Amino acid sequence: MSEHDRPDDVRDDGTPSDPLARVATLRSEAEAAIGSASGSAELEQLRVRFLGRRAELPQLLRGVRDLPAQQRGAVGKAANQARQALEALIETRAAELRASELDVRLAADVIDVTLPGDPALPPGRLHLITATRREIEDIFLGLGFSVAEGPEVELVYYNFDALNHDPQHPARQPSDTFYVTDPDALLEPDSQLLRVHTSPMQVRAMELQPPPLYIVVPGRVFRPDNDATHTPQFNQVEGLAVDEDITLADLKGTLLSFARAMFGPDRDVRLRPHFFPFTEPSVEVDVSCFNCSGGHMPDGSRCPVCKGSTWIEILGSGMVDPNVFEYVREHGYDPEKVQGFAFGMGIERIAMLKHGVPDLRLIYDNDVRMLEQFG
Ligand code: DAH
Repeated sequence: MSEHDRPDDVRDDGTPSDPLARVATLRSEAEAAIGSASGSAELEQLRVRFLGRRAELPQLLRGVRDLPAQQRGAVGKAANQARQALEALIETRAAELRASELDVRLAADVIDVTLPGDPALPPGRLHLITATRREIEDIFLGLGFSVAEGPEVELVYYNFDALNHDPQHPARQPSDTFYVTDPDALLEPDSQLLRVHTSPMQVRAMELQPPPLYIVVPGRVFRPDNDATHTPQFNQVEGLAVDEDITLADLKGTLLSFARAMFGPDRDVRLRPHFFPFTEPSVEVDVSCFNCSGGHMPDGSRCPVCKGSTWIEILGSGMVDPNVFEYVREHGYDPEKVQGFAFGMGIERIAMLKHGVPDLRLIYDNDVRMLEQFG
């Protein structure tokens, strides 16, 4: 501190001539400065200036013990009170300043949440399988079906037994299934496996709800195959309609509507006799080729989609076998009173046909150049 700055009531050695008066002066100076501090930073400077380790008031407090005995009590008390009062004042003022500074920031920081992101993030797309699954669901919803889902880890009972597979059926072999429980117990109805098809939901749905029943069941299914045309996990959509007076004509009409919605209004369908354990009669359903006329391309070459046959197989189907209804007779499915049709299709196959995907593995490689083309 230079000569000029020194207050009148401070001696050459820096101690006040009248400490009590000096405390009062410091206190009122500090109070005025703190009251008019215009920001948190300035307030912090004032705190250091008046209460910091080297500031005058704390020094004065430390010097109390050197004062003449008769002054000590009064000066010590006044200085202490001044320090406490200033600390409290700073705290109050700091809170006020913080609040008003926050208000200013909030007012300046207004974010328009309706503005597009900058840079805008691409929204992504549905995977081809998801998009196709939804398309299939939409078509059947439009035909009056509901969408149901079932467990991927399934009981042998629903996957095979209640679907009329006899105990020797080859599909039960461990080599054809992912068994979760002991593969030696293949004939145990309560053994578990990863379902090999969505058909188990036929019986589960009938247990849950009496007829009439119109459902489609999309979902993942699992088989231990892995080559150019098979992946160990793939997707199916099951269909089941049970009512009074359902015939094969209803099946054909329903699948014709589906084929036209999916593959174009000029499509036709044909049914070929086949065998499935849980339908009788069973059929495979073909759709007329949408890629060619008469099995040939305009340049005369053989159509690669239908292989020149003009028909493309799209699913398995049939009339629900009365033996299946026997498993749910007590749930309202008397085989003498109700009939039904069922069908099952592979979503990958439908997607590949519709979009001309040449190799199943492209669907699961997750190459963005492929993924970006759909959804
Ligand atoms: N579950 C059969 C499969 O995975 C497909 C199937 C055929 C489902 C006929 C059906 C049906 O509902 O009636 O190969």
